[in-house]
Amino acid sequence: MTDFELIQIAKQAAEKAYAPYSNFYVGAALLTKDGQIFQGCNIENASYGATNCAERTAIFKAVSEGYRSFSKIAVIAKDGSTAYPCGICLQVMQEFMPDGFVILEQDDKIVTYSLKELLPNGFTL
Ligand code: THU
Repeated sequence: MTDFELIQIAKQAAEKAYAPYSNFYVGAALLTKDGQIFQGCNIENASYGATNCAERTAIFKAVSEGYRSFSKIAVIAKDGSTAYPCGICLQVMQEFMPDGFVILEQDDKIVTYSLKELLPNGFTL
């Protein structure tokens, strides 16, 4: 699975985003260490704090299906802007993919960050 392919799958996922409050449509595609793919989209709520980001939707779907170890996650915003994961999503990634990679789009290019670059001192117990 190439980074380009994972980005395309994240773009498909953004089509399912439920974002009537921000109109910011986000899609994610998560690759498990054994090659499964889980898509996620952001799911907003009238009580804004109940919103779930695309990354966490994908990760929680995967964990709820028995997968706990992930190698990379692609994240895109439908408007073409770079969708850096929020702090909460980075912390969730810390739990299940501490040695993983985050693939993003920047000005029509694909860029890859390690989770350690984006969250250098992630909390662990
Ligand atoms: N959002 C994501 O789904 N992922 C990100 O990486 C950044 C933000 C969502 C949350 C909310 O639905 C909307 O984008 C605006 O913050």
